[in-house]
Amino acid sequence: MPVRRLAPQNVQPKEFAFTAENLAWAKQQMAKYPEGRQQSAVIPLLWRAQEQAGGWVPQKAIEAVAEILDMAKIRVLEIATFYTMFQLSPVGRKAHIQLCGTTPCMLRGAEEIRKVCERRINHEAGQLSADGDFSWEEVECLGACVNAPMVQILKDTYEDLTPASFETLLDGFAKGTPPKPGSQVERQMAAPVGGPTTLKSMKA
Ligand code: FES
Repeated sequence: MPVRRLAPQNVQPKEFAFTAENLAWAKQQMAKYPEGRQQSAVIPLLWRAQEQAGGWVPQKAIEAVAEILDMAKIRVLEIATFYTMFQLSPVGRKAHIQLCGTTPCMLRGAEEIRKVCERRINHEAGQLSADGDFSWEEVECLGACVNAPMVQILKDTYEDLTPASFETLLDGFAKGTPPKPGSQVERQMAAPVGGPTTLKSMKA
């Protein structure tokens, strides 16, 4: 995993403020916590800031969240730099691919998915594609190992991938018609492919 630092100043926007709608939403989140514990809303607020800013968290967004929650800026920076769900540099306009590279996904073909990323997006992780529409990075386990290999794009996961289905997924995002999240094969949630293999009968 690369070192997680803020993007250089020349790509940082000069300011950030939540839209009125997002600010109202942020206040609702803060109200969910007991009096004096509003800082517990830091992750949802950072996530909403990331969505508003186009898929990444600029420094000014981190500062804005700190101000709303009355936190030291360094505390919010620590959180934004710790979790890979927060992007610290501009990402692809249409999709940023988080490719799981942990053992179960590797054993089930993540290396081949990675080669597609390198060929179709950029040879280097963390860099934009030539048209600026896509970017990718490798991350650790995203908790969907049962349907490995998988990628996460924003808040959705795409599972049971093959190089071919992953290419179809990229085509879908490029055309603005992404596939349905979840397993990309005939599998219900995390059930066995092809249907139940046990407890198929009510008879003893
Ligand atoms: S190892 Fe890939 S989701 Fe867990």
